[in-house]
Amino acid sequence: MRESGGRLKNRRIALGITGSIAAYKAVELLRLFQNEGADVRCLMTTSAVEFIGTLTLETLSGRPVDSDVLSLQGDGRIGHIAAAHDVEAIVVAPATAHWLGAMAHGLAGDPITAACLATSVPVVVAPAMDGGMFSHPATQANVARLREFGYRIVEPETGVLASGMTGQGRLASLNRIVDATVEVLGGDASSAPIVATSTVATSTSPAESRTPARRDLAGRHVVVTAGGTAEPIDPVRFVGNRSSGKMGMAVAEDALARGATVTLILGNHSVEPPALCNVTRAETAAEMQAALRALTPPEGPRFDVLVMAAAVADFRPRTTSATKIGREGGMTLELEATPDLLAETAERVRDSIRTAGGRRPILVGFAAETGSLERAPEKLRAKGVDFLVANDVAEPGSGFGTDTNKVTIFSRDAEPEDLPLLSKLEVAELLLDRIVVRLAAAGGAAKGEVPAGEVPAGEAPAGEAPAGEAPAGEAKR
Ligand SMILES: Cc1cc2nc3c(=O)[nH]c(=O)nc-3n(C[C@H](O)[C@H](O)[C@H](O)COP(=O)(O)O)c2cc1C
Repeated sequence: MRESGGRLKNRRIALGITGSIAAYKAVELLRLFQNEGADVRCLMTTSAVEFIGTLTLETLSGRPVDSDVLSLQGDGRIGHIAAAHDVEAIVVAPATAHWLGAMAHGLAGDPITAACLATSVPVVVAPAMDGGMFSHPATQANVARLREFGYRIVEPETGVLASGMTGQGRLASLNRIVDATVEVLGGDASSAPIVATSTVATSTSPAESRTPARRDLAGRHVVVTAGGTAEPIDPVRFVGNRSSGKMGMAVAEDALARGATVTLILGNHSVEPPALCNVTRAETAAEMQAALRALTPPEGPRFDVLVMAAAVADFRPRTTSATKIGREGGMTLELEATPDLLAETAERVRDSIRTAGGRRPILVGFAAETGSLERAPEKLRAKGVDFLVANDVAEPGSGFGTDTNKVTIFSRDAEPEDLPLLSKLEVAELLLDRIVVRLAAAGGAAKGEVPAGEVPAGEAPAGEAPAGEAPAGEAKR
C-alpha cells in the first residue's frame, strides 16, 4: 500500500459508513486517511452501526460518531449540518444500494444523506454490494444520478463477493478511495511514493504513478469511450469484435495524469481501467448510446472533451432470443446496422449549443480502416468532429489488442499528421497535446457558435456504413 504521504495534511473529512458487509473496511480506511494527515469524523447509518458498532471508530477518530439524524451535538449544533459545513470532503464508503437510492432521491433519513444534501463540498462515493444489486438498472440509474450531482464514484471491483458469488460489487481498493479523495481536494494522487506492504491491494496504473509533467487538463471533464461492444444473439452468444480497450484506456490514463476528471464509457475490454476513472459500463451499442445521450442533454454537453475510441459494433442481430438457441436446424443471423454514435453525439452537442449556448467541447473520433485511410477526411467532415484518428488495422503493430499503434491524426484546420509506430500511451499523449491547444483556442468561442467546417446533422455521405468508432489501435469503420 502507499506509505503515509501527507497528501491530506490537515484536511477535514467526513467518512460516511453504510450497512454493507464491507463496513469493516471503513476502520482501515479511516487509518489510511489519518496516515495521509486528515482529520476524520465518522457518520453512520443505523445499519452500519449494526455491522461494526461505533466504539472503534470513535476511539480511532477521537470524535463522537453521528449515527442519528435526529441527534444534536454536545454544543447543541445539529450533527449532520455541522458536519456538512465543517468538512472539506465527504467520503461514503462503503455505500449500499439502499443509500445510493436514498441519496439519488434526496431522502435525508440518515446523517450521511442529510450531510451530503446540506453541503457544497466534494463527495466521493464507493459502492459495495452483490453483483446483481449493482448491475440492476435501478442501482445504475442511482449511480448515474449521483454522477450528475458531480459526485466522484469509485467503481466497485469485480471478484468474489460475500455471498461466495463472483461479480462487480466488491468495495474498491482503499487506496483508490484515498486517491480519489486526494484528487477531489485538488491534490495530486500520484505524488505519494508506492511501497510494497500489507493488506490493502493497490491498483496503480503507470499514468497514475508517474509524475505528470503538466496539469493542463485540471478542471476539465474528459469522457472516453473504450472497448468493444457485444451485441446479444441469445443469453449466451453475442456478435463482438477484438477490441481490447487499450487505446481508450491510454487516453483516459493520460487525461488523468494531466489533472482531468475522466469518465470512461467502457465496453468489453481485456485490460483494467485506470483506478481513478468514473466508469460507466456499456456492453452494447444501445447501452453506449444511452450513456452518451445522458451526457449530452438539451441543456448542453456535460464534458469538455469527448474521445470516442470504442469499437462499437457496426451491425447487431435484428432480434435477440430470450432462450439459448439450440444447434438443431442451424442458425441464420439477420443483422441490422447500429446507430452512428459519433455523428449522433456530435449532432446532439451542436443542437444543444445552438439552443442553450455554452462552450463547444472538443470531439474526437477514431476510425479503423484497412488498406487505405483515404475515406478519413470525408468522415471527419461528415461526422462534424474536431479530430479523427485513423489507423490501418491491417498494418503490423497497429491492430486490435496491441500495445502500439500507428495513426494519422486528421483535423479540421490542419494538414493530416502521420505519426510513427508508437505506444498507445504515446499516441494518447500526442493526441491530448493537440486537444489542449484546441481547448485553449475554443476558450474564447462565443456562446452557441458553431465552428466553420461543421456540417449540419444527417449529411453523412450516402452509402457510408453507419457510424461507430474505430479503435485506433482498435479502430473501426
Ligand atoms: C450480512 C448482510 C450483508 C449485507 N451487505 C450489503 C452490501 O454489501 N451492500 C448493500 O447494498 N446491502 C447490503 N446488505 C443489505 C443492507 O444492509 C440493507 O439494505 C440496509 O437496509 C442498508 O441500510 P443503509 O443503506 O441505511 O445502511 C447486507 C445485509 C446483510 C444482512
